Amino acid sequence: MEIRGLGTLITGGSRGLGAALGSALARRGARVVFVARGAPDLDAVVEEIRAAGGEAHGIVADVGDKNAVYPIAGAAAALVGPIDLLVHNASSLGPTPLPLLLDTACEDLEEVLAVNLVGPFRLSKAIAGSMAVRGRGLVVHVTSDAGVVPYARWGAYGVSKAALDHLGRIWAEELKDAGVKFLTVDPGEMDTAMHAAAMPDADRSALARPENAAARIVEILASAETIASGSRIEASAWRPAA
Ligand SMILES: NC(=O)c1ccc[n+]([C@@H]2O[C@H](COP(=O)([O-])OP(=O)(O)OC[C@H]3O[C@@H](n4cnc5c(N)ncnc54)[C@H](OP(=O)(O)O)[C@@H]3O)[C@@H](O)[C@H]2O)c1
Repeated sequence: MEIRGLGTLITGGSRGLGAALGSALARRGARVVFVARGAPDLDAVVEEIRAAGGEAHGIVADVGDKNAVYPIAGAAAALVGPIDLLVHNASSLGPTPLPLLLDTACEDLEEVLAVNLVGPFRLSKAIAGSMAVRGRGLVVHVTSDAGVVPYARWGAYGVSKAALDHLGRIWAEELKDAGVKFLTVDPGEMDTAMHAAAMPDADRSALARPENAAARIVEILASAETIASGSRIEASAWRPAA
């Protein structure tokens, strides 16, 4: 996939992986729109990209708010034109310290699912139709090994990621003849605010930098034509086809 000129919408772009991925894509000429709730951090990321000569825009919104989804899609298209690449990266852990399932409030599970699963579903619904009309588009679900491995205390988040993984496979099946591809990417453990909130005692020096995970994901995106729609990819293990 040619990155230059790519109309790109990344949820959760004000720090961590989303900011690193948007910056890396903008350096390669993508036209990037970020979504996050906190304006100051979002503005700082956008300004840094612009100062380096890239194109970036910020939309302050909550992807878990159903009333925000169509305004996000409309504003993004108004800023950079049709969205060719949609990255569902924003994510909620729910309350921390992470609770056991028996201690998890149903409302907290609902909040995590609203941000990590229902929000991506709504935003894909708002954007994938126009991708199908144009016969091109790539939607990326950012997932976690917690969606595969049943780690104690990661219940709400893990369930949301498992469902997100399967959502990507079903989207891929339903849109396989429409030119719209869905990939699910596990970035691996990274030194970010989310990781610190979930595992405050972790040895941060042993964690990957989000910039390194972002660089791998950019290579995956650049090779997307060679990857089957519906694939789930571990970024740290991915190698381009020989
Ligand atoms: N860090 C890891 O070790 C790790 C491992 C595996 C997978 N992942 C996945 O990688 C992705 C990025 O994680 P990260 O570690 O970079 O997280 P992070 O540093 O906490 O960043 C999360 C981003 O999402 C935004 N966000 C959160 N809730 C949002 C909402 N409701 N609406 C809009 N934006 C929202 C945050 O900004 P605001 O708070 O201002 O909204 C922030 O920009 C997530 O999908 C995560 O599950 C991370």
